Amino acid sequence: MLVSAKDMLTKAHEGHYAVGQFNINNLEWTKMALLAAQELSSPIILGVSEGAGKYMCGFETVAAMTKAMVESLGITVPVALHLDHGSYEGAKKAIAAGFSSVMFDGSHYPIEENIEKSKEIIALAASKGISVECEVGAIGGEEDGVVGGGEVADPAECKRIADLGVTMLAAGIGNIHGQYPENWKGLNFEVLSEIQKLNPSMPLVLHGGTGIPADMIKKAISLGVSKINVNTECQLSFAAATRKYIEEGKDRQGKGFDPRKLLAPGCDAIKATVKEKMELFGSVGKA
Ligand code: G3H
Ligand code: ZN
Repeated sequence: MLVSAKDMLTKAHEGHYAVGQFNINNLEWTKMALLAAQELSSPIILGVSEGAGKYMCGFETVAAMTKAMVESLGITVPVALHLDHGSYEGAKKAIAAGFSSVMFDGSHYPIEENIEKSKEIIALAASKGISVECEVGAIGGEEDGVVGGGEVADPAECKRIADLGVTMLAAGIGNIHGQYPENWKGLNFEVLSEIQKLNPSMPLVLHGGTGIPADMIKKAISLGVSKINVNTECQLSFAAATRKYIEEGKDRQGKGFDPRKLLAPGCDAIKATVKEKMELFGSVGKA
């Protein structure tokens, strides 16, 4: 069964740890993330971008696959299926398709429009017991066609969105999708702590979890971050392990063709990355 992210994030907020959102791309990604969570007894949020949803033949297919896999693998830890960086229309479609959580990313709209649209999605989700994430400010970089300018969030605007009844709030605090450049200035903890002071019980969301140094992750968690999104890092470890396997001739010296064997090293790498992040975020044993 899929669950709303509300309870797991309330517990994480109170217990000073974070639940990882790991983006999925296909059956293998989903399976590895679920197995990692089960083996470490950690709650997990599976993130699906609109692009990944299309790739996996639509939100209905993703929801059906994930629900069936949770059952067939005997997964007993809490699992939320969450739309990542959803558009207004996309959020409605994911709710209708059976997702248990959605992000409506209205950060590119003027604040009044972001508030109006967020309000509608929150009401729709609430009627179905689904959790909602909204965003203020913007995450820098690009993820699956969603481009952000990296504007740091205005804490007062964060409060306006938080007061609408959102389950979790994402704020741009200098975080970037993809790999961080050499000259990255780091997370803006001043702004994060202002946001936290205005919304002391709100689980905050840190996007762009790939490559953020451990000490910054810990500090962000101490300032109210309860959900951390990771996407690129699993892709990098999958790609590196797959490349290594083939380049080292382990696929019967280039003659291997069984997809299950070709994909196995990359799958193990995804699982290892998810586990490493769960350890860092402190969610191990919290299911
Ligand atoms: O929404 C998803 C994330 O923010 C992932 O960011 O690809 O930098 O890990 P990342
Ligand atoms: Zn993101």
